[in-house]
Amino acid sequence: MDTFIIEGGRRLCGRIRVNGSKNSALPIMAAALLTRHPVKLRGVPDLADIRNMLRLLAELGCHRTNEAPGAPDLSTLILHSDDESQSHARYDIVRTMRASICTLGPLIARRGYAKVSMPGGCAIGDRPVDLHLRGLSALGAHITLENGDIVAKAPPGGLRGATIFLGGPFGSTVLGTANVMSAAALAKGTTVIESAACEPEVVDLARLLNAMGARISGAGSPRITIQGVPELGPVDHTVMPDRIEAGTFIMAAAITNGDLTIENCPIDALLAVTDRLTAAGVYVQPAQGSPDDGLHASVRVTCDRVLKPVEVTTQPFPGYPTDLQAQLMALLCIADGNSVITERIFPERFLHVAELARMGARLFRQGPTVIISGVRHLIGAPVMASDLRASAGLVLAGLAAQGTTYVNRVYHLDRGYEKMEERLRAVGASIQRIDEKEAAEH
Ligand code: EPZ
Repeated sequence: MDTFIIEGGRRLCGRIRVNGSKNSALPIMAAALLTRHPVKLRGVPDLADIRNMLRLLAELGCHRTNEAPGAPDLSTLILHSDDESQSHARYDIVRTMRASICTLGPLIARRGYAKVSMPGGCAIGDRPVDLHLRGLSALGAHITLENGDIVAKAPPGGLRGATIFLGGPFGSTVLGTANVMSAAALAKGTTVIESAACEPEVVDLARLLNAMGARISGAGSPRITIQGVPELGPVDHTVMPDRIEAGTFIMAAAITNGDLTIENCPIDALLAVTDRLTAAGVYVQPAQGSPDDGLHASVRVTCDRVLKPVEVTTQPFPGYPTDLQAQLMALLCIADGNSVITERIFPERFLHVAELARMGARLFRQGPTVIISGVRHLIGAPVMASDLRASAGLVLAGLAAQGTTYVNRVYHLDRGYEKMEERLRAVGASIQRIDEKEAAEH
């Protein structure tokens, strides 16, 4: 297991480019199960979760047909579902990647049968899938739980359109909306999803499905309408840039008092984030010559020398995203005053709190709320967290801290950020990756 060694206190300056979105790519890759035609995807990031999804799809008879010899480049994938005989997503893979649940809707819709291991809890909370199952049942699927597997069968004649309410205790569900929307694309008749997730990744999936011949309208709003079609065709689709990676880089610039230009930045998908950052004294402005496109902009990030405290509550899109909560907390640790963060999506998603405290942060948690009393400096320390975004927060803290920070178990980070250390180093960070053996020597 690799470790990052970070010497803090270097300003990040220069240009950094945002990759394609992990959370957009995963359900989009699963949608390749909906057709026997090739699905060409561009801008796919090279991440452990993407490779796990490729492995899972291959087991389900959906192969990558443009595999390069040697080290495969994942940035362009051609997926081809040419063997529909195996429809079992096994526990071995599902337990490594919860997004495996995205195969459920496409498998039932196209093959009439799916067996997908029930995902367990994870480091950020219980994470039930009841809304996914409720939505697919409303389309007529018969669903049972057998030996830890969700077993789903379409009724004779296939899935039927229906009106479905997908609201849950914490708002809607992103992957649940993706599952139901993908399945409804091939159902007979019209489906209306009420209280659908409005996240940009749902819009990206709808764009892909429509380009394959689906008839989906309203994606990005709480009501999505889907007129089912009998078949979907081939497609060539570019995955949207990763708004969470972009937000993480914006905060890396801010926490180091740097001056970064972030290219391929989906700025329109980050309005709640830039709103809170502006309040804290971080400025995110269109860079010179930026494309006039809110999904692929170039933005320049600068900030005041002294950051102001802010209050933030995580919410479904367009609210402040839970996936940028840990990174913002790291930043607010060095603001001048008391900030408040309330986590409304995953109320237990605070693995970074105790680790930031090891670096000298002053944090007081009460249930889903953390009060952050800013300190002048964080101090380097060995830390680790078993959640991807918590780990990203610790890397940011390390970039700002005085002295050396060791972020252990960076495989969590590798699930969501491609070659993060190389990209941060290129803009001035002192950050090295060492393996387990080297770490033992430190
Ligand atoms: C997606 O997870 C993302 N994952 C998560 O990103 C992200 O944190 C989350 O959406 C929220 O934005 C992927 O896209 C692969 P949800 P998802 O279903 O879809 C409750 C990261 O770090 N709920 O929208 O699984 C649930 O417990 C990851 O990149 C139910 O009650 O999240 C939560 O409180 C982590 N029943 C809320 O809804 C259900 O059936 C939102 O969860 C489903 C969810």
